[in-house]
Amino acid sequence: MTEPLLSIRGVKASYGHVAALKGVDLDVSEGEIVTLIGANGAGKSTLMMTVFGKPRAHAGQIIYSGEDITRRPTHLIARMRIAQAPEGRRIFARMSVYENLQMGAAVNPDADFEQNLEHVLGLFPRLAQRLHQRGGTLSGGEQQMLAIARALMGKPRLLLLDEPSLGLAPLIAQQIFDIIHELNARDRLTVFLVEQNAYHALKLAHRGYVMVNGLITMAGSGRDLLERPEVKAAYLEGGRH
Ligand SMILES: Nc1ncnc2c1ncn2[C@@H]1O[C@H](COP(=O)(O)OP(=O)(O)OP(=O)(O)O)[C@@H](O)[C@H]1O
Ligand SMILES: [Mg+2]
Repeated sequence: MTEPLLSIRGVKASYGHVAALKGVDLDVSEGEIVTLIGANGAGKSTLMMTVFGKPRAHAGQIIYSGEDITRRPTHLIARMRIAQAPEGRRIFARMSVYENLQMGAAVNPDADFEQNLEHVLGLFPRLAQRLHQRGGTLSGGEQQMLAIARALMGKPRLLLLDEPSLGLAPLIAQQIFDIIHELNARDRLTVFLVEQNAYHALKLAHRGYVMVNGLITMAGSGRDLLERPEVKAAYLEGGRH
């Protein structure tokens, strides 16, 4: 078997005295969509941010593309063709859509700006109509599209997405999931998806992990996890848990 593109081993991270990650193991192989689900406060966002070194893992190892990035500075990790669309979108509100996309492209000087622009505007035609509008004036769904489009402008090998469906109407959320599927199936983009929308995430993902209180408690194929009674009870029937 080939090495996973991203390999997280025994990672621990804390905020002050609060332990958020208590020894997490997780792999993402090239070409996969892997999802991480879990309740509020489980540590999902923390794990995603730990890949970028914020917060730093104080134990364990993070290996990306064969290199140990556990202690690498965040700005250097960003240049390794790992991109993230963080929770809450965090687009640049005062900048135009176009300027936001330029910022996304800046992490990869080798990427062809015009070609990538055409690609992302093809995926998100709404953004093409709003290229000179300020980011902060976009709707919630459009801001989420921009966050993903900006991440794609650096031509990532690995895309990290934190709750891309949060706060969106079901139809818009479905569009976002369809685009993630397309990016993976057509462009072979590897995706690590943090989601509370467990049903959609597990349906979309090749594999999934469940996190409880800073630890992985279950792992399996998306289909397998969808069928497990514990997953159904905790994450599917009651909705947000
Ligand atoms: N900046 C911070 N300072 C202190 N504690 C934090 C900080 N960010 C997160 N935490 C704590 O770390 C734990 C994990 O939080 P995290 O945001 O990773 O959870 P999550 O699984 O992403 O939750 P949600 O589904 O609500 O987004 C929580 O107990 C949270 O209160
Ligand atoms: Mg979170």
